[in-house]
Amino acid sequence: MKKIKTGIIGMGYIGASHIDAVSRIGLCTLSAVADTNAALARSKADEFGIEKYYETIDELIGDTEIEAIHNCTPNHLHTEINKKIIMSGRHLLSEKPLAVNHKEAESLVALKREYPDTVAAVNFNYRMNPLVQEMRRRIERGEIGEVRLASGSYLQDWLLYDTDYSWRLDPAIAGASCCIADIGSHWMDAVQHVTGHRITKVMADLVTVIPVRKKPVKQTETFTSAVPSEYEEVHIENEEYGAVLFKMDNGASGVYNVSEVCAGHGCYFNFEINGTKASMRWNQEENDRLWIGNRDADNHLIIRNPNVISPEAKPYTSLAMGHPEGWNDAFRGNIYSFYKYIADGKKPGRDKPDFATLEDAAYIVKLTEAIIESSRIKSWVSV
Ligand SMILES: NC(=O)c1ccc[n+]([C@@H]2O[C@H](COP(=O)([O-])OP(=O)(O)OC[C@H]3O[C@@H](n4cnc5c(N)ncnc54)[C@H](O)[C@@H]3O)[C@@H](O)[C@H]2O)c1
Repeated sequence: MKKIKTGIIGMGYIGASHIDAVSRIGLCTLSAVADTNAALARSKADEFGIEKYYETIDELIGDTEIEAIHNCTPNHLHTEINKKIIMSGRHLLSEKPLAVNHKEAESLVALKREYPDTVAAVNFNYRMNPLVQEMRRRIERGEIGEVRLASGSYLQDWLLYDTDYSWRLDPAIAGASCCIADIGSHWMDAVQHVTGHRITKVMADLVTVIPVRKKPVKQTETFTSAVPSEYEEVHIENEEYGAVLFKMDNGASGVYNVSEVCAGHGCYFNFEINGTKASMRWNQEENDRLWIGNRDADNHLIIRNPNVISPEAKPYTSLAMGHPEGWNDAFRGNIYSFYKYIADGKKPGRDKPDFATLEDAAYIVKLTEAIIESSRIKSWVSV
């Protein structure tokens, strides 16, 4: 089989996970990486034995042997770089959120329509946890009945202190939302994916918990807990806490909260779906377990087992039961899904993918904007 030649732009925190994932899936070869921080691009190329590294996106896009490109840059660059990738005729795997506002996200959807054979995915990786896929299939088969309620949270603590800082707090780079765009987007994508229903109405309370922060004078790594020796005090507008009530297109009701200031939490991403017959709950930190709740029978815990998992979920799990798979494996699963789709010669518009499309991701940007607006006007907003 001919391997797909690929390139990755952005060698920061998540770029490293993309390198790891592409090296594990066997369907592609990582030809080149790029970062405006040339020393970083070079060190990643050296560390992982990658043939080429570039300092600019134009050099990487100009490399004619590359067939697919991952965009792992900060949010405000997604639209511009994604456009260049699509217009160059390459397949695109973009990091989330797709864009900093819905107008930009829609412009990407419109541009992509002019390139019908281009495969474009957005990295909503939590979808590809095997038991999230299993949940989706069981809900599709009617095992919990009609979906009535959805609830959960996504909690982290990397912005707990006023000495913690990230570009995600800066509207010029992140867009007008910190934690809803950053992690609420994952939560909404996963819940819409497993239920097969869209969130259509929101009522939100967004809070900037620490309104003045100490921003390091020199750029620091994402998610670092190091206290900067030189800093400037900056006013913060983007939220580090958000609570959202919502309605779905089938009439179901839901609620979730997200925060990056909850001490003790690294990636407490969880959700519960309650149907007319039964309930299901999944928690990323114990991701090989799926709780099934019944009223007239025993509750039970499903342990991930490739031998009995639904056939559609099987491509996303490989280790035998009792051998824990984790965050990296689900991440790899999303990237595998993208390359498998290309390798199988599937066509956007004809073959529905498991990964999030640009349309799916643009809808999440629209929801994020509605959530910001709802918090501002203190009222329900329809999407
Ligand atoms: N899917 C996930 O679970 C997940 C997790 C973390 C981050 N992300 C997303 O990934 C993106 C990057 O986040 P991060 O935490 O890796 O950020 P980061 O700041 O750690 O890394 C971004 C990198 O992009 C580089 N860069 C900036 N401008 C560039 C340009 N014009 N050309 C090439 N490189 C450029 C920077 O030098 C830096 O190395 C964000 O959109 C974020 O939302 C997704």
